[in-house]
Amino acid sequence: MLLHRIKSVVVFSCLVTLLGCQTAPNFHTAEPTGLVGHQAMVVSARQEVSDIGLQVMAEGGNVFDAMVAVEMALAVAYPFAGSMGGGGFAVYRLADGETGALDFREKAPAAAHRDMYLDEEGNVIPGMSREGATAVGVPGTIAGIFAMHERFGTKPMAELLQPVIELAEKGVVVTEYQQGRLASAREKIAAVSGSGSKFAREFSVGEVVPRPALAESLRRIVAGGRDEFYKGEMAKQIAEFIQAKGGFVTAEDLANYQAAWRSPIQFHYKDLNIISMSPPSSGGITVQQILQMVEPFDVGQYEHNSLPMVQLLTEAERRAFADRNHFLGDPDYVDIPYAEMTAPDYLAERMASFSFEAATKSSEVGHGDLQTAESSETTHYSIVDPYGNALAATITINGAYGSKLFSDELGFFFNNEMDDFSAKPGVPNMFGLTGSEANSIAPGKRMLSSMTPTIAERDGKLFMLVGAPGGSTIITSVLQTILNVYEYGYSMQDAVNAPRFHHQWLPDVILFETEGFEASLLEALQAKGYTVNQGRSPVIGKVDAILVLEDGSLEGGADKRGDDAAAGF
Ligand code: GLY
Repeated sequence: MLLHRIKSVVVFSCLVTLLGCQTAPNFHTAEPTGLVGHQAMVVSARQEVSDIGLQVMAEGGNVFDAMVAVEMALAVAYPFAGSMGGGGFAVYRLADGETGALDFREKAPAAAHRDMYLDEEGNVIPGMSREGATAVGVPGTIAGIFAMHERFGTKPMAELLQPVIELAEKGVVVTEYQQGRLASAREKIAAVSGSGSKFAREFSVGEVVPRPALAESLRRIVAGGRDEFYKGEMAKQIAEFIQAKGGFVTAEDLANYQAAWRSPIQFHYKDLNIISMSPPSSGGITVQQILQMVEPFDVGQYEHNSLPMVQLLTEAERRAFADRNHFLGDPDYVDIPYAEMTAPDYLAERMASFSFEAATKSSEVGHGDLQTAESSETTHYSIVDPYGNALAATITINGAYGSKLFSDELGFFFNNEMDDFSAKPGVPNMFGLTGSEANSIAPGKRMLSSMTPTIAERDGKLFMLVGAPGGSTIITSVLQTILNVYEYGYSMQDAVNAPRFHHQWLPDVILFETEGFEASLLEALQAKGYTVNQGRSPVIGKVDAILVLEDGSLEGGADKRGDDAAAGF
């Protein structure tokens, strides 16, 4: 019945036919170690959120109905990264195999311009793109849920948001992780939003935090629809609030905002068909380049996280990130040479300089010192419904609690997504990384992202959903989770929990999680000329994924690194 409501979307045709694709040598289905459901599954950053999404499907809703509820429940239970004031991307696969993607990424306001964060001498003004109202891009989240609901939803918005409103009224328990994050952000939230602002106080583990203002905003969205946020009274309140705080978003910017349907990136890795997010996310193309660069080396022949395996992935990541940072930006503003970047001859040529004997130097690879970065504070959810539809979505307000600008009247934080642009090409941003010309600021443009919501098919059937927060480490987290299952035979939960490492061309260093890597591995890498760092990122990505098992049941993989939780039936 769902299919009658579906309008067609254009998809990329695959460049490689299934015939002749390799299979992973070690491929087998591991015994599940995560939650198993037989019909439906939600994996997200909080148990309360996954439960709400599952309930929607238990009452007959589909994956898109569940997405609406999950997205807003994250705004209630996970204000660190979920909010009406943010944006994101969703990739879906319908039960009949049709795929598509929705881009509800924030946009630069009309008043934005290339040098808006520079002083008279052309230097970046510290903090201006990172904290407070000047950092806020035009939010896309509400447009995103309404676009998805209008095209695919089956249940009334009021019914979908009712449990979310109830959760906001009742409140959510502060976990240990959450308490730590709130404590770290408290001073900045107080500085930006005032010491009397809701999240500017101290919180204790176990206390319950109701969100009455957010509940009221949700009720207004139910009553007034998408227009309440973009054209109605709430739009006026948002624009007045941001401008009173010195920001650039106007009522006209809100009225002009539209989510965009995109053709996802689709490619083969051996006998997997991978469907991932297209620009303005860099995720899909970069994962494609890395996987297709390592494919001829048959990564599965090397022991998991062994010296040659780490070297191979690192060298492919180095080369792919160099391209990412030079070529990628908003496709509505920049020509992206996708076919050239993913041509087999080109990728083989890129890897021609790789040797297991010694590290390649990043200074010898790519296009100079151009680099783009995103923050590590984002969140991902994966959903499969009883009808066989699947949706992977990654959403963000960029930094922890976004710009730290909280509207006590409306009950949510605003993003600081403007910092995902290059404030000044070549100059490092908040993460010590520098940006490229393709990602320079322009009015109405979307900032480059690393968010990589991804779905994999095998034998023409749904195989896996995966995604993560973590800025540029999202890409390598998604990559390693796919390889852990497909090449190393890990269960979904074990694949998500496995220790991760990351390289992104510049800085020329391999980051390792604090736990799970032997000193002897790091020493062997150093002996080959690699710079390693095991302290800087104790956690790399927080993956929330779902694997379809051989009997058709679903294994959830909820990352042990956070409060993440699966719910299924
Ligand atoms: N703000 C994080 C990202 O879009 O990648």
